[in-house]
Amino acid sequence: MSTAPHGGRGAPSGARLETTARRRDRRVYTASHPVLFRLLSVTGRAPVRRLGSRVVVSGEDEVRQVLTRVPLDRTDDRTTGGAIRKHEGEGALFDETGPAHRASRRGLAERLGSRGVLELARHYRPPIDDAVDALRAGEEVDVCALADAVSGRTVAALLDLDLSPAECAELARAARLTASSAAAAELPSWRRARYRDHLADAFGGRVDPLGKMLALAAVTTTYAALPRAVAWVADEGWWATCRDDALLPVLVDELLRVLAPTPLLPRVAAEPAIVGGVRVTPDDQLLLMVRHAVDAHRRDPSVTDPAPTAQARLVFGAGPHACPGAALARAQLATTLSSLALQPARVVRAVPDRHAALPAWRELVVRRVDRGADR
Ligand code: HEM
Repeated sequence: MSTAPHGGRGAPSGARLETTARRRDRRVYTASHPVLFRLLSVTGRAPVRRLGSRVVVSGEDEVRQVLTRVPLDRTDDRTTGGAIRKHEGEGALFDETGPAHRASRRGLAERLGSRGVLELARHYRPPIDDAVDALRAGEEVDVCALADAVSGRTVAALLDLDLSPAECAELARAARLTASSAAAAELPSWRRARYRDHLADAFGGRVDPLGKMLALAAVTTTYAALPRAVAWVADEGWWATCRDDALLPVLVDELLRVLAPTPLLPRVAAEPAIVGGVRVTPDDQLLLMVRHAVDAHRRDPSVTDPAPTAQARLVFGAGPHACPGAALARAQLATTLSSLALQPARVVRAVPDRHAALPAWRELVVRRVDRGADR
């Protein structure tokens, strides 16, 4: 396939702003995470900016520096690790450091390494194939339900749980509700609520703290990323690019960069440090604006002029805690896009999820486009 435009609109080439895709995607922020959206909008272009006891870090180099060179207190309540420890107890990776953390990572390396990712495909592939069949038959497909099916089956396989397809979807739903309730309990907004462990309610002692954290990390990010990526591709008419084996991996990296499914990482320094010329101490909360660091807010996805890989992959963090599920997430998105591209679809309904832990759609319904409308 060439990268030349097809029928007026072409392969992803970046630079254009305010496309239908970008306008639609912005709704997941404005409707479901207005406080986060305001914060992302008002913090401007300074790589590092102090706002009282919060330090907003938006520069690519500065975000990477915090994640790789500043000693971090992973247990502080104002960080992801501390929040997880508060609700789930110790031993859930995000809050670990040193030898304990390295041992936990080794335990995961095989299951999430390249062989593990290939092996997982046979678990998450069937619902994707079913979605293609449904599109072929002219039916509507809700990509949010598809995301739950994909992540639920993946997590069940990772945790060695023998579950039916319906139970896998329920596992994903329970993980999402648990993550939303944890986020609502932490966020300074009208969503303040008491934490409830829906996973424990549904699956009791079958999921240990590490397994639970894996479930939350995999399910919330898949639910956020997959439907938003499908919507972006459908709005831009980039299905032909999804069928191109050479361009697809570039498109996947670029979509994940622009969607930045985890747009903000809260962290706390364990000791005083200088970040981008600003002195920070353990009293400060560092708000790492990943979305800005990867230029998601002003540079569209492009397969002809993609962002450098190191910048794009910053959406998965950096350093010893960098996301161990990154290869799996990329593989799942690539499989979903290349499969759905067999029956190119358009968005017929998109409803933001006002309670999701990460900016996400609650319903993202697509239907096959008429013959000839495929680009
Ligand atoms: C598009 C999808 C995903 C995104 C954007 C994402 C992003 C991230 C980020 C930003 C971090 C923190 C990194 C840091 O502190 O430097 C992280 C950590 C983590 N992610 Fe992901 N993730 C995704 C999918 C997944 C999946 C599918 C899994 C599991 C199957 C997973 C498991 C984890 C785990 C276990 C950690 C904690 C690692 C540690 O603290 O050592 N993630 N992820």
